[in-house]
Amino acid sequence: MESQRRARLRRMGIDTWTLKDQSPPHGPPSLSAPLPALSVTTESPVEGTDWGPLEERVRHCQRCPLHETRTQTVFGIGDMNARWMFIGEAPGEQEDLKGEPFVGRAGQLLDEMIKALGLERSSVYIANVLKCRPPKNRDPLPFEADACESYLVDQLRLVSPSILVAVGRIAAQNLLKTTTPIGKLRGLVHNYHGIPLVVTYHPAYLLRAQTEKRRAWEDLKLARQTLAGVTLKRASDGLHL
Ligand code: URA
Repeated sequence: MESQRRARLRRMGIDTWTLKDQSPPHGPPSLSAPLPALSVTTESPVEGTDWGPLEERVRHCQRCPLHETRTQTVFGIGDMNARWMFIGEAPGEQEDLKGEPFVGRAGQLLDEMIKALGLERSSVYIANVLKCRPPKNRDPLPFEADACESYLVDQLRLVSPSILVAVGRIAAQNLLKTTTPIGKLRGLVHNYHGIPLVVTYHPAYLLRAQTEKRRAWEDLKLARQTLAGVTLKRASDGLHL
């Protein structure tokens, strides 16, 4: 098991550095922001919102012109009760064809990042800010992200994760409604609808900038530490874990 984990980390380019960090996280992370209230975890989904109707609404969505160019919508995938939720930017070409987020090369690296945490792709939930592919993979336009946001928030309420990872600058800036550069968003614990959110680099960027993989691993460790803090807090609050 451990050797497999090390091999995965090596594939991420974070071998020797990571081996110093074998111990599980203890205590609260050194946060630059206080842990947010866990409001979403106690909220019910919007009335009438359940997985089936929500998927159906997304499938037929015509809220923005992206419906004209999509092959199909890309809803999201994974454990509907996951504690970890990864949120990317938008489907690319392969995702648009397959109807599943992160299935291309970047997706393979995201899977490695998830495995480096000791998790499986199937045990987390993965979604995007946009459910439709922007033509030629251009950046999402603000009104497209706005039009799509309620779908993501409904997914969030249904999954009720304990930690969010914003995958890449575009996802982070859209979720946090900011133009702050990713370098300044990383390393902090943000709050998205009451759930702690950590920002990391997009795997497509990491494929081009291999040396940044160490930083991405730092981000994932911050997320893991934050989750440990959330778990402790829930336990001390007597909430169902
Ligand atoms: N990049 C993303 O942000 N999301 C995907 O689903 C695929 C690539």
